[in-house]
Amino acid sequence: MERVISSKPQEEDVVLETSLRPKRLAEYIGQDKVKENLGIFIAAAKARGEPLEHLLLYGPPGLGKTTLAHIVAAEMGVSIKVVSGPAIERPGDLASILTNLQKGDVLFIDEIHRLSRTVEERLYPAMEDFILDIVFGKGPGARSIVLNLPRFTIIGATTRYAMLTAPLRDRFGAVHRLNFYDNVAMLDIIKRSAALLKVQVDESAAAEIAKRSRGTPRVANRLLKRVRDYAQVVARGMVTTQVAEAALGKLEVDQLGLDEIDRKVLLTIIEKFEGGPVGLDTIAAAIAEEADTIMDVYEPYLLQLGFINRTPRGRVATKLAYKHLGLHPAPESPSSEQGSFWPS
Ligand code: ADE
Repeated sequence: MERVISSKPQEEDVVLETSLRPKRLAEYIGQDKVKENLGIFIAAAKARGEPLEHLLLYGPPGLGKTTLAHIVAAEMGVSIKVVSGPAIERPGDLASILTNLQKGDVLFIDEIHRLSRTVEERLYPAMEDFILDIVFGKGPGARSIVLNLPRFTIIGATTRYAMLTAPLRDRFGAVHRLNFYDNVAMLDIIKRSAALLKVQVDESAAAEIAKRSRGTPRVANRLLKRVRDYAQVVARGMVTTQVAEAALGKLEVDQLGLDEIDRKVLLTIIEKFEGGPVGLDTIAAAIAEEADTIMDVYEPYLLQLGFINRTPRGRVATKLAYKHLGLHPAPESPSSEQGSFWPS
């Protein structure tokens, strides 16, 4: 079973997210800076009667990159085609996608950091000059034709900004980072979703779900559904704080939204590697999880909470992590203890 706090999309999320997803910018809660900048970007392009420049959205999974891409297309009044970077395997796949776009259309490329090098190189002139070089054959007999493409907009999404090559980054007219949502925004999102799902949720129960949703709407909506199920079976559908706490407790999601894997990551650093520093691959091997999953899904939130630090020599658990787990940090090393003898 997929973990309930995972911010990776799961099967039921596809249905859930499309029904709960805000359709216009005005309905979108949180990410105020991004929303404001996008609003101006869109209004300016519309006023000039031009297609939008290419746009890159990055940040941890589940924060609304796909939702924003759909909103941008709706605000521009154009169609959107959604693809995933690794699914565009050959230049021919890219050619067929690009030649089917209409003027102004949005092409949303999820996981754009996973495009193959050859596809990425074909994308450069397409993004910059709206031309596509199609090569037939190989070696000295190869011939090529240049196709003009309609002016379209690429919206790229990635969880790994650092993995994008500089030439690809340079081709985006705007780049926005999505951050974890604050508690106020999470509470509003949960209330909005509850109303759409027709679930009766007390204000304090909604706050409890918000607190445990790791600043991630996808997680909030999933927890809300699980709490709704629980309430339906044991409390005639009414989500009170008590019901929410009981349901969330059963899911082993703690007060801060950490689940078993988060705790395993922290405990591994603390107990097996004396608090770190320890490399990500070593942690991944120790708990039998993929390093990429830890890096994309678990680590960003643990970093945000200040429970781990990234150092050049690896990950280190902080005092806050020990405290949250009810543990005591080992005494400081003799050299730093010695330092405390000196007057400051
Ligand atoms: N549902 C998921 N994310 C949302 C957001 N940012 N605003 C409103 N509803 C949402």
